[in-house]
Amino acid sequence: MTTYRIAVLAGDGIGPEVTGEAVRVLEAVGKRSGVGFAFTPALIGGAAIDATGGPLPKETLELCRASQAILFGAVGGPKWDHLPQEQKAERGLLAIRKDLDLFANLRPAVCFPMLVDASPLKRSVVEGTDIMVIRELTGGLYYGEPRGIEQFADGSARAVNTMVYTSGEIERVARVAFEVARKRRRKLTSVDKANVLVVSTLWREVVTRVGRDYPDVTLEHILVDNCSMALVQRPTQFDTIVAENTFGDILSDEAAILAGSMGMLASASMGGKVGLYEPVHGTAPDIAGQGVANPIAAVLSAAMLLRYSLDRVDDADRVERAVRRVLENGHRTRDIAEPGGKTVGTREMGDLIVGALEG
Ligand SMILES: NC(=O)c1ccc[n+]([C@@H]2O[C@H](COP(=O)([O-])OP(=O)(O)OC[C@H]3O[C@@H](n4cnc5c(N)ncnc54)[C@H](O)[C@@H]3O)[C@@H](O)[C@H]2O)c1
Repeated sequence: MTTYRIAVLAGDGIGPEVTGEAVRVLEAVGKRSGVGFAFTPALIGGAAIDATGGPLPKETLELCRASQAILFGAVGGPKWDHLPQEQKAERGLLAIRKDLDLFANLRPAVCFPMLVDASPLKRSVVEGTDIMVIRELTGGLYYGEPRGIEQFADGSARAVNTMVYTSGEIERVARVAFEVARKRRRKLTSVDKANVLVVSTLWREVVTRVGRDYPDVTLEHILVDNCSMALVQRPTQFDTIVAENTFGDILSDEAAILAGSMGMLASASMGGKVGLYEPVHGTAPDIAGQGVANPIAAVLSAAMLLRYSLDRVDDADRVERAVRRVLENGHRTRDIAEPGGKTVGTREMGDLIVGALEG
């Protein structure tokens, strides 16, 4: 029997609560498909600070490097907020991303038909939305040099950030995007600002060149300002979107609100050999320990793990269908329920999803 090695970094707050349900769903889907998962838990974030003094113990990093994929919860919380920037719980996640060279961030924005009224957009606009935003995660404006603030004697100042990309950095994220588009509806929209920025001119050139290796995927280019309008005007026109770091940061959040609650949003970070899968939400200290957190974002992140790291597309589809079925049957955690409506807890939602997996 095939057994996949998965590192489980549940983290803090609701992290362990929602990750536990994602693990149970993977176990159940594996049992149905005749594959096994060897889950190894490890410390990260605040839990690691309490136990070892630092947010990312060496053993955790070694486990991640030796695993086929990482299932991540969330890190941080008020208990560790007073620590200096470099020792904060959130540094653990940034350090893993850097060490594993996770340069592509995947954020799906799916409008579930039964939750359409939770979207800030009109039903007629948002219904049928199913977008994957791929954001370059390790280059561009957020890391480029030179950067800094210069103070002048007259009291004025000058600040600089640099948007810089090499053709190699663009090519590798473009390849991820084309591969993802291939697993979806084979349409890729590349976002840039090629009418103004020379970085975007190179971006467009490289993406176009890489596209010749993917003749089965339709490629279109769109200016970032136009893309931000189109996302709220006609989101259904998009399938897969790829953008550099800053544009992707903004557009992936814009696309996310189309879907409604934080508790529904999954994500993946890919690039090197090991992918990392995590809900977009944080540790939700306001509801941690109460058993009411929505585990769906974590479960859908596990579905992405099946699809992108293990290439188990049928199993990923099966998990996503189970989530849809549970929602169609009217089950809701508190964050997605109508005011006064009946709700289920984290564990019960996990049970319902496991029960809705078909053979
Ligand atoms: N990737 C990460 O690990 C990550 C991401 C974001 C924030 N954080 C950390 O989490 C802590 C709290 O941050 P925040 O409050 O800004 O964001 P948050 O996402 O934790 O919570 C925002 C709001 O959404 C709700 N919410 C979030 N996830 C939910 C779920 N699954 N089910 C139901 N409701 C849910 C919360 O109750 C809260 O009201 C901070 O320490 C922050 O640094 C970590």
